[in-house]
Amino acid sequence: MERSLTMEIVRVTEAAALASARWMGRGKKEEADDAATTAMRDVFDTIPMRGTVVIGEGEMDEAPMLYIGEKLGTGTGPLVDIAVDPLEGTNIVAKGTTNALTVIAIGDHGKVLHAPDMYMKKIAVGPEAVGKININAPTVDNLKAVAKAKNKEVEDLVVILLDRPRHQQIIEEIREAGARIRLIQDGDVAAAINTAFDETGIDLFMGTGGAPEGVIAAIALKCLGGEMQGQLVPQNDEEIARCHKMGITDIDKVFYMDDFCGGDDAIFAATGVTDGELLKGVQFKGTKAKTQTVVMRAKSGTVRFIDGEHSLRKKPNLVMKPE
Ligand code: FBP
Repeated sequence: MERSLTMEIVRVTEAAALASARWMGRGKKEEADDAATTAMRDVFDTIPMRGTVVIGEGEMDEAPMLYIGEKLGTGTGPLVDIAVDPLEGTNIVAKGTTNALTVIAIGDHGKVLHAPDMYMKKIAVGPEAVGKININAPTVDNLKAVAKAKNKEVEDLVVILLDRPRHQQIIEEIREAGARIRLIQDGDVAAAINTAFDETGIDLFMGTGGAPEGVIAAIALKCLGGEMQGQLVPQNDEEIARCHKMGITDIDKVFYMDDFCGGDDAIFAATGVTDGELLKGVQFKGTKAKTQTVVMRAKSGTVRFIDGEHSLRKKPNLVMKPE
């Protein structure tokens, strides 16, 4: 993978954030998602790479943009697999709440897990607690292990989870153990990544969310030296059949870091659409807009925060406000 790709993909997540942020608070999640997807698709075409979408907006026969299997890039340059979530947190943008991101994760060709679009049970931590978690261990054991690794008391820990009825039992277990909880409405990619940044105050991410989001967050954690473990949670026979079709015969298989993305390199970029703990959302002022992006690379371990100032005069499509 070429180093320059790291900076190139910032342009992609920035464009998607600028386009979707116009829909903030308008109650229209599909439109916000479409705006991000279209902007992302357009910029991808200008990047020198030979990319294949492995996590995207859907199957080819559904004909979305950024479908699984779609080829991206100019057709010259590194051969890579691409996982995209043009807008992670469509409801977040529709409501104007926190932590919506536009996201891209890239691994070497053949190295990124082709996860089916269904639920996945996940657990994730930042670098200090790597090697200490076990997705199948009792909640209290994971809490004790993370607390010890971070030189904290269990009572000091903050565990982040999606606020869903399916998490009732695990929430009770965390409360019983005495740890603190942060419940979020949406956006478990940001939640998982935040475990690797001390300033967010998040120690551990747990719970069940989208499998594609799991792969994307795992690639970010690979770059950050953190860890995620995941296990698919098919909801019916049709979903089990879909796993089999994708070559996953052992439904209970635990996915570890190397299963999510093998090899020694990967890159990840996310731009804030709405404000979050790690990134500010897009700010518009007249013909200018500001973005904040985090971009990282596994091979070098470099993490960059990039503030962008964009002239909307040169991007007339972004000046256009939604009807
Ligand atoms: P979208 O951006 O596709 O709306 O996903 C938001 C999200 O909160 C993800 O972060 C999470 O993995 C998933 O939805 C959880 O799914 P559900 O809302 O069904 O619990």
